[in-house]
Amino acid sequence: MTADVGMLDRLARRVEGYRLTLRLGEKGRVASVGDGIAWVYGLPSAAQDEILFFEDGSRGMVFELQAERLGVILLDPAANVASGSLVSHAGERLEIGVGDGLLGRVIDPLGNPLDGLPPIAADGFCALEAESPPILARDFVSRPLYTGIKVVDTLIPIGRGQRQLVIGDSGTGKTSLALDTIVAQAGQDVRCIYVMIGQKRSETALVIDLLRRHEALAYTTVVVAEATATPGMKYLAPFAGCAVAEGWMRRGEDTLVVYDDLTTHARAYRELSLLMHRPPGREAFPGDIFYLHARLLERSTRLSPDYGGGSLTAMPLVETEEGEIATYIPTNLISITDGQIYLERHLFAAGIFPAVDVPLSVSRIGGKAQHPRIKEEAGRIKLDYLQFLELEVFTRFGTKLEAGTETKIRRGRLLREILKQDRLNPLAAVFQLAWMSAFNEGLLDDCEPNSVAETLHKIEAGLRRNPLALDTARNEWLARLKNWLDGGP
Ligand SMILES: Nc1ncnc2c1ncn2[C@@H]1O[C@H](COP(=O)(O)OP(=O)(O)O)[C@@H](O)[C@H]1O
Ligand SMILES: [Mg+2]
Repeated sequence: MTADVGMLDRLARRVEGYRLTLRLGEKGRVASVGDGIAWVYGLPSAAQDEILFFEDGSRGMVFELQAERLGVILLDPAANVASGSLVSHAGERLEIGVGDGLLGRVIDPLGNPLDGLPPIAADGFCALEAESPPILARDFVSRPLYTGIKVVDTLIPIGRGQRQLVIGDSGTGKTSLALDTIVAQAGQDVRCIYVMIGQKRSETALVIDLLRRHEALAYTTVVVAEATATPGMKYLAPFAGCAVAEGWMRRGEDTLVVYDDLTTHARAYRELSLLMHRPPGREAFPGDIFYLHARLLERSTRLSPDYGGGSLTAMPLVETEEGEIATYIPTNLISITDGQIYLERHLFAAGIFPAVDVPLSVSRIGGKAQHPRIKEEAGRIKLDYLQFLELEVFTRFGTKLEAGTETKIRRGRLLREILKQDRLNPLAAVFQLAWMSAFNEGLLDDCEPNSVAETLHKIEAGLRRNPLALDTARNEWLARLKNWLDGGP
């Protein structure tokens, strides 16, 4: 048996060697160039996603294989490729430099610096297109990824290795929520990657500036394919971000990748596919658009201890129109991810920030990663809040309410006020446990919605003076909370 395996192995190597000689000997030519792509003929052994080398030294990537010709994404915008240029290949795939040299850096999807700083010192390379980790290498999601956002950490908690979609119309706070989450990772040992696809240069500059001002750039890499980039570069951007994260994950680190956003990514892929003459399907998207995002997001996971225990948490953003989440790309993404945070424009217009629609948001696995004390308190909060939202609908009809119902509504309104949060104001887990315990114990029942913030400040100040841990017993927590609310130390 071993002999057979050895023989197969040798045979496979010989075939591979033969293929390589074939490739090295092959020379193709460019038939035409335009829109960031080239058509090439004369390279019969070229494979999907393989790198091609043009005679001016620039590179391309095989995107479309046809009987007589190849559709190629040009990887160097300054390339001097013209029809008739010679093309060769050597069986290489597109890779990107990875490692801590990327922290604090802004790069394009090929890993070239865009921040005017020196070239990046990489520890190694990861392929942009890689197999997702096999089931055997995966572990359960068991550690929380705190966003510092009350409504998310309490009601829609995220675990490390989870895929959590952020969905909503333009201007409902998706980018803000993702940036808040990155800013909240200070001191949490999570390396972050922010992938910006097809945004204007001014927006890109704002995001980078915000991360820098909040000292979050030090543990973050920003991958940018601007609005003016070719569809090929926009298509590659999320895969580049994912590969950078995988480099860290394989070394046992925890990572968070934000894809801002996959609607723009899907459109770039559609444009690229149309340029490459792929047949359009629903909404003119190519038939494999589901597979495109599935294979990207399948790469997020938590690795088992045998594989280093690292994790890749994915936060893809997707833009809807008129709040419609049942359209093609959003429904695909909802079915691929482990949950969604739905930002709703009417809530936004009503001044409820962040504008999370709680009943339509869900986290299918994050609850398993919550600290048991947080989970216990959060479970009660969630029940109260969902019940309140249902009851509140009835109050609109002017129905006379029972006293018990009225209390529930009053507490619900208070809760809604507590869950409001300014941008860039992450609340650490102990502070979240504090307000949840106080609320559940009824210690905040006498507060008016417009004065509850003041009461919460009292608690937070007390907790800063005399820290308590998540593991501290509930009785002890309650005694201290009461003490602080009574003005004690
Ligand atoms: N929690 C919040 N509190 C106050 N304003 C917010 C909040 N979240 C977002 N905004 C504001 O809403 C606007 C749109 O937010 P943005 O994150 O760019 O939305 P999107 O990415 O969904 O288009 C921005 O001006 C932002 O400052
Ligand atoms: Mg945005």
